[in-house]
Amino acid sequence: MIAPSILSADFARLADEVRAVEGADWLHVDVMDNHFVPNLTLGLPVVQSLLKTTDIPLDCHLMIEDPARWAPPYAEAGAYNVTFHAEATEDPVAVARDIRAAGAKAGLSVKPNTPIEPYLEILRNFDTLLVMSVEPGFGGQSFIPHVLDKARAVRRLVDSGELRLVVEIDGGINMDTIEAAAEAGVDCFVAGSAVYGTDDPAATVEALREKVIETEQAASR
Ligand code: DX5
Ligand code: ZN
Repeated sequence: MIAPSILSADFARLADEVRAVEGADWLHVDVMDNHFVPNLTLGLPVVQSLLKTTDIPLDCHLMIEDPARWAPPYAEAGAYNVTFHAEATEDPVAVARDIRAAGAKAGLSVKPNTPIEPYLEILRNFDTLLVMSVEPGFGGQSFIPHVLDKARAVRRLVDSGELRLVVEIDGGINMDTIEAAAEAGVDCFVAGSAVYGTDDPAATVEALREKVIETEQAASR
């Protein structure tokens, strides 16, 4: 799955920018509160408007403090997947439960230097694991390869049947880095600047998907 991030889109023309990635599997929406990360983007009212303008499932990535309070309304509004940060709450399982009860898939995200081992036990309460491959806060940063160890570890648990969840990666994904992420067993690839920085975002989404398919075919040969 390819999930273009509208963080790199023109916020004054969001409906057009969403149409420009027709064919995307998920639309990645970065919510930042200027506290959990040093940047401010958009919140629930914009998500509600986006839901009216597209049928692409919304993948809301909440880079915010106090997700227990703020995450469930995104699920109630109709977001498909609502991901919050492990670093932002003492009780991730309770937040996941509330998101699911409100009708969305629940995702857990970890920053590049947050180990995954302490969370392996609770991942069965989640539908998505979002591995950050840059420090959250800004688009256009360089991919951090060591985070792929976390993707590989969780992939093994999924392949062995111990877990059922989507392994998603976010940050610095482009035509050069997507191959390594695909080899590590990632299912869903977020790409912001790599998609919106091109003249034909929909074609870039397709090219990224092709690259993943090629990598998977090469691995199974
Ligand atoms: C960063 C965001 C990402 C961002 C990725 O904090 O979570 O979703 O849009 O941008 P690129 O693909 O440009 O690294
Ligand atoms: Zn994101």
